[in-house]
Amino acid sequence: MALKFWNRPPLQYLPEEIWKDGKEILEALLRLSEEPDHSPGTFVTIHGISSVDSTTPAMRHVYRDLFSLSGTSELSMIDYNVKETRQLDSADLIESLSQDRHHTQDDRVHLYGALAIPATRQGILSASMFLGPYSQTDNNSFLMVKSGELAWDSGVVPAGGVTDVHTDLYGAPSWIQHIEGLKLWLLWPSTKKNRESFFGQPKEVPMCIETAFKTLEGLQVLRVGPKQMAFKLPPQCLHAVITLATSAHAGIPVVSFEDFELASQIMAYTLEKSHGFKQAQYSAHWDNYYTNFLDTVEENDLSLWEGLIKRNPGHALVGPIKKWIATTRSEVEKCKQVSAYEQKKQPTAQGRSRSKRQKKSK
Ligand SMILES: [Fe+2]
Repeated sequence: MALKFWNRPPLQYLPEEIWKDGKEILEALLRLSEEPDHSPGTFVTIHGISSVDSTTPAMRHVYRDLFSLSGTSELSMIDYNVKETRQLDSADLIESLSQDRHHTQDDRVHLYGALAIPATRQGILSASMFLGPYSQTDNNSFLMVKSGELAWDSGVVPAGGVTDVHTDLYGAPSWIQHIEGLKLWLLWPSTKKNRESFFGQPKEVPMCIETAFKTLEGLQVLRVGPKQMAFKLPPQCLHAVITLATSAHAGIPVVSFEDFELASQIMAYTLEKSHGFKQAQYSAHWDNYYTNFLDTVEENDLSLWEGLIKRNPGHALVGPIKKWIATTRSEVEKCKQVSAYEQKKQPTAQGRSRSKRQKKSK
């Protein structure tokens, strides 16, 4: 289905490089599904949204949030031609999102998208966001503690946008609501093998999708849209996204007891890697990545878990989670001390920028 979609208007009028790249990925995906030993994963479940009415979030809510920002410097704008974050103004973005109107292949066209657009009460929060099993009435789940519903953010991606393999929020699980458009989400679980393939060695460039087909296990393909729907990205879920029609989505971090075992395995692995990479001083890029990771773990992830156990004091996992939080805090501090020590020894690593949260790139 997706390949047919790619080969006809408006996607066939994408700039040639982007069109060829997407076509090759979709052909590789098709070949993969024909391989007898390829068993598709089923670790993510789609939740349908049955009633769509005037309170349902729509593209106009996302645009309202986008234009509520005082400046585009607050935004993570992606240039899909080169798959890099860029400083752009709103006019560039709007022109790009209207590219469906092009009727000839024009390599000068750039596809831009905006990600991690903060939610406002005039924008998506004025609509009824669908939290499915993560509703605050469900005591087995918990949303971002510090900012509550303001922790929602959204993104808008043009038709033809292809995002390489990555994780969001340094691996914190999140709930994704698809608002408009059509996408293929390619998902890989955080297994031991996948962690080692993806995070085992520091890399400066994201893993491309065709490499992921060869090296990662347990691929699940989700066709998301055109109807509204939602799903949860499990902890450290590796994913890549192929956008078939201009799309909007929203996301918010969530945790639940079912995540604990995997989250603790991931944390142990990442802290060990972080410690090793920091000691080895691979590069400023990775030093920055792990510094942000450690800050995020302390400020956000552990607070989420604390919120969950506070809300459910009688749950059998409260004891193990409390112990894990204490151990993790102490490990994070140790890693940070390594970083501070190495910075003293290597003054060139100082003065780097420290964004508090990794930008999402769905
Ligand atoms: Fe993402």
